[in-house]
Amino acid sequence: MCGIVGYTGKKQAAQFLLDGLATLEYRGYDSAGVEVLSPDGELHGVKCAGRVSILADRCKTANLTGTTGIAHTRWATHGAPTDKNAHPHLDCTGRIAIVHNGIIENYRELRSYLARNGHTFASDTDSEVVAHLVEDAWAGPCKGDLVAAVSNAVSRLEGSWALAVVCADAPGQIVVARNGSPLVVASTPEGAYAASDVTPLASVTSHVIQLENGQIARLEESGKVTVYDSEGTTVEHPSTFDIDWDASAATLGGYADFMEKEISEQPEAIERLLKGRLGEKGILLDELRMSEKDLAAVDRIFIIACGTSYHVGLIARTLIQTWAHVPVVCEYASEFNYEQDVLITGHTLCLIITQSGETADTLTAARRMKGMGCKVFAVTNVLGSSAARESDGVLYVQAGPEVCVCSTKAYTAQMVACALFALRLAQANGHMDAAEVSGHYADLATLPDLIRTVLSRAWQDKQAATVFRRAHSALFLGRGVNSTTAYEGALKLKEISYLHAEAYPAGEMKHGPIALLEPGFPVVAIVPEDRVHDKTVSNIQEVIARGATCVAVATDGDESVASLCEHVLWIPPVEDELLVPIVAVVHLQVLARYVARSRGCDVDKPRNLAKSVTVE
Ligand code: F6R
Repeated sequence: MCGIVGYTGKKQAAQFLLDGLATLEYRGYDSAGVEVLSPDGELHGVKCAGRVSILADRCKTANLTGTTGIAHTRWATHGAPTDKNAHPHLDCTGRIAIVHNGIIENYRELRSYLARNGHTFASDTDSEVVAHLVEDAWAGPCKGDLVAAVSNAVSRLEGSWALAVVCADAPGQIVVARNGSPLVVASTPEGAYAASDVTPLASVTSHVIQLENGQIARLEESGKVTVYDSEGTTVEHPSTFDIDWDASAATLGGYADFMEKEISEQPEAIERLLKGRLGEKGILLDELRMSEKDLAAVDRIFIIACGTSYHVGLIARTLIQTWAHVPVVCEYASEFNYEQDVLITGHTLCLIITQSGETADTLTAARRMKGMGCKVFAVTNVLGSSAARESDGVLYVQAGPEVCVCSTKAYTAQMVACALFALRLAQANGHMDAAEVSGHYADLATLPDLIRTVLSRAWQDKQAATVFRRAHSALFLGRGVNSTTAYEGALKLKEISYLHAEAYPAGEMKHGPIALLEPGFPVVAIVPEDRVHDKTVSNIQEVIARGATCVAVATDGDESVASLCEHVLWIPPVEDELLVPIVAVVHLQVLARYVARSRGCDVDKPRNLAKSVTVE
């Protein structure tokens, strides 16, 4: 949902800004731009539709010298992804430039007001009004004080924003503002930096300031950063945090793409998450910040999430209900937010699952639940994210930076985090004793090696991918917890290969989707050794009888499946069948990647998508 970067300091700005945009490109990549304040006292910029690499090429011939600048990579909301709609946007004088992430909801009113007062607009975006509002404030009551001008401008905005502003008449500084969209800043001896998240900053510092909603900061070329609250008072102790991974974690390191790298990192991510979680009395989850009594009293849970994280929620629902016997409602945040009646008890807990911690719908839902008096617990991968800061407790899944837009390692790590949560709850409310809890923990501890085994069988996925090369559609089937594996497999395939894929609980197939089947139609069936194995095998037989081509995910040695299916993606036996989704999905991630690559798709940056969806 757009990435922004800013730098003012001793070094030339352009290269850092372009490198920073490249690391933020997962936030949006339909157009990009950069604006630098050059020594001649003028702003010089380049912007264009397309990826950051296209911008970087154009910049080679555009003499962008200067040590203060801002840059942007866009995911279009208002206005098509064209050159003119790319950021930065300039005011009428050409001396003020802004970049914006978020949505200005009242931009129509502001635009007509500004137009009536002589402003002309160069783009169709909502963001451009900000440049003109700063221009008015700078020309009027706030002359000479860029912080005051930006503060005046944002006081007229409704919506969400992370903004960075440069002014040719206020050299050597950048002013940034935040409300609803993420923004971090950093002070170093080489200068001051701003970015949508820590990824561009990991190479220059390990310590960042997290701006809160309503705050504004002045970044100076000396490296000084001053944070102000919405009243203009200096914030003496802004919130800070340390980046807990080094810059190389966000580089390819020899892999063909980030998706391949992140899929392969899953065993280590789960090991990290599980480490030190089992104590004498059971699972250690102090992050919940709830007393034993309050935890034991939880009698209903709302799990709220979007996309892949919603699929984690479906698995979490089963784990919590089975292990802790607490009823769970799992909802898409975008649906939950507009539901009229939310039936909570006095002891309802809300669990939000969001790898980015910035998904607007999920944050809105969490605020709604908080407003109703519920405690909110977040499972997220991003340190200091809005979800983490706004929740009563947060469990970081510690999967490391996930650069590929489609989620892989955060998905499996989030499932393991939810398993820990379910065990902790079962332990508190007495549905499990310490021995049972440690037995389940031991099962979780086997997951990294089981996933390593699946990864060593990637050749099976490569062979199976040939089935999809010329397909137009695919059907994914599974039962029980693995109906969710089917949903996730279909989502992975469609988002990176643009092949239509649909998922159904296998038993539902005969109530409609079976009409799709014809000779050669690809069906992926998840059929591990479990309680519903034989039922799913019967569904596979129905598929085969209609001439469809079946690719199965099955447990080692399962002849009943091997004899029916064209390809089998084998998984090793998993002790607890409820944990199979965490192992089986790895085949589907690898399969989706091979299919996408064979169809010539960019697996890391699928079209139209962005990693963190910060608009509703
Ligand atoms: C798909 C994917 C998305 C996200 C969804 C929610 O691979 O990654 O479906 O899961 O946009 O994002 P988070 O988890 O950041 O709230």
